Amino acid sequence: MLLVPGEERAALEREAADLPHITLNARQLCDLELLLNGGFAPLQGYSSRKDYDCVLESMRLENGALWPVPVVLDVSGNVADGIEKRPRLALLDDGGAPLAVLDAGDVWRADFEREAQCVFGTLDRAHPGVRYLFEETGPFYIGGRLRGIRLPRHADFPEYRRTPGELREKFRAMGWKRVVAFQTRNPLHRAHVELTQNAASQNRAGLLLHPVAGMTKPGDVDHICRVRCYEYVLKHYAPGSVILALLPLAMRMAGPREALWHALIRKNYGCTHFIVGRDHAGPGVDGRGAPFYDPYAAQELLRTHQAECGIEMVPFREMVYAPDEGRYLPVDRIPENTRILRISGTRLREMMASGEEIPEWFTYPEVVEELRRYSSSK
Ligand code: ADX
Ligand code: MG
Repeated sequence: MLLVPGEERAALEREAADLPHITLNARQLCDLELLLNGGFAPLQGYSSRKDYDCVLESMRLENGALWPVPVVLDVSGNVADGIEKRPRLALLDDGGAPLAVLDAGDVWRADFEREAQCVFGTLDRAHPGVRYLFEETGPFYIGGRLRGIRLPRHADFPEYRRTPGELREKFRAMGWKRVVAFQTRNPLHRAHVELTQNAASQNRAGLLLHPVAGMTKPGDVDHICRVRCYEYVLKHYAPGSVILALLPLAMRMAGPREALWHALIRKNYGCTHFIVGRDHAGPGVDGRGAPFYDPYAAQELLRTHQAECGIEMVPFREMVYAPDEGRYLPVDRIPENTRILRISGTRLREMMASGEEIPEWFTYPEVVEELRRYSSSK
């Protein structure tokens, strides 16, 4: 938690009012929220240049702690110049309210090519993380310590917004010593319900559905519609077995590195287990139609860092439907000569667009209805 204690807040807010300021964009607001609420612990602010370099080269901070994705504040040349003279800055939300005071340490010109190669393994602009870097990121980076005034406010779904501290407290209150987290940026269908139920029961753990309500892959179903879908789906879990909470993360779609990041974030939220399935945080296909990462590369990376992670990976192969058995199975457990059915995300979007019926084995009628409402409003 980088928020100052309550009795210091008013003074910090007064100080912020007299400082040069910048207004954070959507991505920066997400990053700041997770810095302030402890979701990005052990980060104490935006990374120094040394930490940033280490993260790029070795997925570690300078002190050796695992940290796979750089978190820095990107700014314009003008802001970077101003900081040379006055290194203290107020960070504002889009309504002009001060959220934090930053003491800028390092300021340096970003090298997007190097960062893209290290973090994403490609310079292809078809990768949404690469595209964001080259087209939407400010040319200078700032590192420095943060003192938080308050968390960004969310008008939507306050009942599902929980800080790491609040979730840990909730787990304690539920008597959950073991908690398996499920990351998602999509509506949940039957495969996901089966997968998460299996993960929880195999590990004798409570289940945290922890969908991203920050920034996801362009073109995704927005989180407003998704939360409605999640609420329907919750009814299919045993009472008291599951908690739904929203994660204010700005995803980078960095595949394996991002999966490791997701795991470290969930550890901060008090989870003991983390599900990684097929193509976790996958950015789609490159300019030639080939996937950027192997669908199980994320599992490999987590496996090699398992001991250090402090949270146990629960790996799953792709879940597919076996109609003759009437159930979902991991694709490597399908008996020989058994028929299987699957519907990809792309195929599902096509089916929605053309008004085709979505089969009951795939998802729930209320979810289909919600998604149809959503796609017809687009
Ligand atoms: S993302 O964060 O990985 O981009 P997504 O909603 O697509 O979100 O997937 C959430 C999690 O479920 C990931 O761990 C992914 O690997 C896993 N997953 C999604 N669909 C399947 C499936 N059919 N079989 C196995 N794992 C899956
Ligand atoms: Mg996926």
